[in-house]
Amino acid sequence: MTQDELKQQAALRALDYVIEGAIVGVGTGSTANFFIDGLATMKDRIAGAVASSEVSARRLAGHGIPLLDMNDVEELPVYIDGADEIDTSLAMIKGGGGAQTREKIVAAVAQKFVCICDATKKVAQLGRFPLPVEVIPMARAQVARELVRLGGRPVLREGFITDNGNLILDVHGLAIHDPVSLEITIDGIVGVVTSGLFAKRGADVLLLATPDGVQAFER
Ligand code: A5P
Repeated sequence: MTQDELKQQAALRALDYVIEGAIVGVGTGSTANFFIDGLATMKDRIAGAVASSEVSARRLAGHGIPLLDMNDVEELPVYIDGADEIDTSLAMIKGGGGAQTREKIVAAVAQKFVCICDATKKVAQLGRFPLPVEVIPMARAQVARELVRLGGRPVLREGFITDNGNLILDVHGLAIHDPVSLEITIDGIVGVVTSGLFAKRGADVLLLATPDGVQAFER
C-alpha cells in the first residue's frame, strides 16, 4: 500500500467525526486534501466549512462546499487536519505546508482536533522534521538568532510567502524534550507569528493509517 493510499484511508475514516448539520474545520496538506474530497460526498449534510489556508479554501470551493469566515464562527465541533510528526501524547509538528498560523487559529476554536496521518508520522520524540516557524519579515534575522540560542539551525524557506504575507524559518536540530515549554518559548519570541509546535493544544484523536488498517488513539 502506498503512502498516499494510507493518507486517504485515514482521511476517509475522519468523515465519521463530521457532525451532520454543523460546520467543519478543514486543515491543509495532502492528507487534508483527501479529506476534502471525501467531505464533498456529504456536502449537503453539513453547514459548511472553515479552511486553514487559501489552497484548502479553493479545493473546498471547487467541490461546491460552502465556506465560512472564521470570524463568523462561534461553535466548531471538529477540526480535521494532518501533521508532519505526532508523538504519543498527540503533540504535533505541523506547518510543512506553511499554514500553521491559520491551522492553530482554527484548532483553538474547535472542540475536537482529529489528526489524520499515515504511520510514518508517528514518532517517539518530535524534532526530526524541521520545525516551521512563521516570522514577520523584518524580524527574520533577529528571530533566527534567538532560535540558534535555543539550539536550532534555522533555514529560510526560499521563495515561500505564507497566506499572511510572512516568511517561514525551518528549524533543524532542535531537541524537543518538552514540547509545551518549547512552544511557549518560541511563540513568545518577538517577531514570531506562530511555530508549528501544537502541544498546548494537541490532537484529541489520532487516526493513524497502517498497512493493517486505521488505528484510533484518543488522549
Ligand atoms: C500544513 O501547513 C501542515 O501543517 C500539514 O498539515 C502537514 O504538513 C501535513 O501535510 P501532509 O498531509 O501533506 O503530509
